[in-house]
Amino acid sequence: MPNNLFDHLKIRGLELRNRIVVSPMCQYSCEDGFATDWHLVHLGSRAVGRAGLVIAEASAVEARGRITPADLGIYKDEHVPMLARIAKFVKEQGAGAGIQLAHAGRKASCNVPWVKRGAQLPLEEGGWQPVAPSDTPFHPGDRESAALTIDEIHGLTEAFAAAAKRALAAGFQVVEIHGAHGYLIHEFLSPLANQRTDEYGGSFHNRIRFALDVSKAVRAVWPDDLPVFLRISASDWAEGGWDIDQSVELARCVKPIGIDLIDCSSGGMVPNAKIEVGPGYQVPFSKRIRYETGMLTGAVGMITEPDQADAIIREGDADVVLLAREFLRHPYWPLEAAAALGVKLGPPVQYERAFN
Ligand SMILES: Cc1cc2nc3c(=O)[nH]c(=O)nc-3n(C[C@H](O)[C@H](O)[C@H](O)COP(=O)(O)O)c2cc1C
Repeated sequence: MPNNLFDHLKIRGLELRNRIVVSPMCQYSCEDGFATDWHLVHLGSRAVGRAGLVIAEASAVEARGRITPADLGIYKDEHVPMLARIAKFVKEQGAGAGIQLAHAGRKASCNVPWVKRGAQLPLEEGGWQPVAPSDTPFHPGDRESAALTIDEIHGLTEAFAAAAKRALAAGFQVVEIHGAHGYLIHEFLSPLANQRTDEYGGSFHNRIRFALDVSKAVRAVWPDDLPVFLRISASDWAEGGWDIDQSVELARCVKPIGIDLIDCSSGGMVPNAKIEVGPGYQVPFSKRIRYETGMLTGAVGMITEPDQADAIIREGDADVVLLAREFLRHPYWPLEAAAALGVKLGPPVQYERAFN
């Protein structure tokens, strides 16, 4: 029996009310990693709008792992109370509450996008030395990264686990490990950023080692009845880079560790990658991983239309769809999509007069 967009999805002990997920989106609205009322309203409104799962943005597992000084953080216990307020509200609205655990690697220490998108922040303006598998910078001419030692790599694995414990303390039900978009975990995966000659570089199995370490460490502290997702860039869209075949293989390796869902994004590894962008352009990655590994998958990227989203689920190309920009334009997208698809979906009682 094919599923529909508005069918429930049970993953371990968590039941999502539909297959619509708010994709993690950095808001660059923090100081020292602390969430604010902005996050409560931003994430809370999408839960009010009837998303099945709301995933809070890339949350840095250490301060050096922030893309910008304004990123959300989950690197100290003091971050927990405000995150807990947000998770509580999201759950009260009937959505699942998720958070993405991240480290920006060589793409850390940038300006906020509305000042200068992707531009490295100089040390004298509050920037810092990024860390990465190897020292090559993302943009030629940028400050080099400090190549991580083996001890530091192990320390970062622990930082992901410590962050997961804080996410649990805050009441989140899903953690998503950010292994995409040219950030730290992806940098280990891709030969384009990983030139190491030790056990974390070179062969496929060495390059995936850090992703596996982090997956195991997070799974070890995350309850058995709650899901862990892994977001990957299924392709670097670049010669000699990470690709869909390696992604399928990685999915096979994380499945026995207890990763529940592969969230299939792409790109971000090199500037000027040749990406063929269009509606649903990353869906084929999700479809292949789902069929070849039997894992649950998420499709993301230019999914905007109710029919399109429903077809992705019905045709078995993904188990959930993640929407990012469309949710910024339409916080109540699930309610609008339900109306378009002829599905009866109750709005919050406070809003009933507008939707009936
Ligand atoms: C403002 C903004 C912030 C984003 N921040 C993140 C993030 O924190 N983590 C992540 O994995 N992707 C992030 N992304 C990527 C989105 O989650 C999504 O994968 C991408 O925008 C494609 O989906 P869309 O076409 O529905 O926007 C961000 C995208 C936008 C527009």
